[in-house]
Amino acid sequence: MVQPKRNILITGGAGFIGSHVVRLFVNKYPEYHIYNLDKLTYAGNLENLKDIEDKPNYTFIKEDICNYEAILEIFQKYNINGVIHLAAESHVDRSIKDPFTFAQTNVMGTLSLLQAAKVCWDGKYEGKRFYHISTDEVYGSLEFDGTFFTEETKYDPHSPYSASKASSDHFVRAYHDTYGLPTIVTNCSNNYGPYQFPEKLIPLFINNILEGKPLPVYGKGENVRDWLYVEDHARAIDLIFHEGKIADTYNIGGFNEWKNIDLIKVIIKTVDRLLGKPEGTSDHLITYVTDRAGHDLRYAIDSNKLKNELGWEPSLQFEEGIEKTVRWYLDNQKWIKNITSGGYESYYNTIYKYLFK
Ligand code: NAD
Ligand code: TYD
Repeated sequence: MVQPKRNILITGGAGFIGSHVVRLFVNKYPEYHIYNLDKLTYAGNLENLKDIEDKPNYTFIKEDICNYEAILEIFQKYNINGVIHLAAESHVDRSIKDPFTFAQTNVMGTLSLLQAAKVCWDGKYEGKRFYHISTDEVYGSLEFDGTFFTEETKYDPHSPYSASKASSDHFVRAYHDTYGLPTIVTNCSNNYGPYQFPEKLIPLFINNILEGKPLPVYGKGENVRDWLYVEDHARAIDLIFHEGKIADTYNIGGFNEWKNIDLIKVIIKTVDRLLGKPEGTSDHLITYVTDRAGHDLRYAIDSNKLKNELGWEPSLQFEEGIEKTVRWYLDNQKWIKNITSGGYESYYNTIYKYLFK
């Protein structure tokens, strides 16, 4: 039987991870049509996709995932038969200041997509797939005891961001269990790499070193995160979208834990070296500030299920990934300048006033 053409809706494709996923799918699958649906919030930037925007198998749609009527129309008009859902509010510090926006986009927006898929697909689920991208932060926080989050770890979110993502994950599973929608959920650790908005730790610190600004280390810098290069996440998403089991969950991580302060020292060393400055030049920028409220101590992902069942492993060593990332930010200062002016500037300054008052 001839397979129907794959028309895939990727939400949040103008953001950090989404742009890598869109690029991978558009280039790797010329026989698919990729619809990138994004509201273009402060975090969405079509410059991230300049290299593929003219490809015949790519269409950008500016829309809000919370607009149910519009989303349903898009499903019907383009005969969408696969969804990779990345659109979200994604920054923990923002969620502490503005939890309502996080509930609205992450919970109600996900619900609106689920309902549109259910109504449009109307029980004809053969070949259909609704893939929801989530975070390891839904599992809560680990101690320094060598344990890992597995797919069986109970949800225990602490920040408004992780609570909203946990809620959206539950809705996705509920749509499978109640209506039979063919869903998959993955929970990934912290991503880093090109095109990440400079409010997250790694790009913020690279940028601040370049500008000689203080590096605000929350608390004692002892919190631990597990870091994964963004293109390795995109490869995992490709594999799971095609070969993952319906109704299943996969954890994605790099087995790459770093204490914040140690990671920060690697960033400083790499930036100084690539700028040709003597080691230690930017160390004085480290500034300890008041800890983040409810700051999770440690995240660590066990991604053995994905390795054993589908054969995925991270391809990049951390040292290589950081070097590539720092080089990219050094070579793309115009990208940074464009997004740190205008609307973002006021947020940036507000945060700075708050941290250093
Ligand atoms: P991002 O903030 O860089 O991008 C989010 C994108 O979603 C932006 O393009 C934005 O314009 C769009 N968007 C926001 N609200 C929208 C709405 N209402 N309608 C349509 N589009 C909207 O985020 P990211 O870091 O690329 O994360 C993408 C996804 O991956 C999120 O679901 C996040 O929870 C998840 N995730 C991120 C990480 C990480 O380390 N960044 C780790 C694990 C999981
Ligand atoms: P972040 O990149 O915001 O990701 P997440 O909070 O989703 O893990 O932060 C990574 C770690 O770095 C986290 O422990 C908080 C810390 N951090 C700082 O110490 N200073 C900063 O300015 C930022 C943005 C984060």
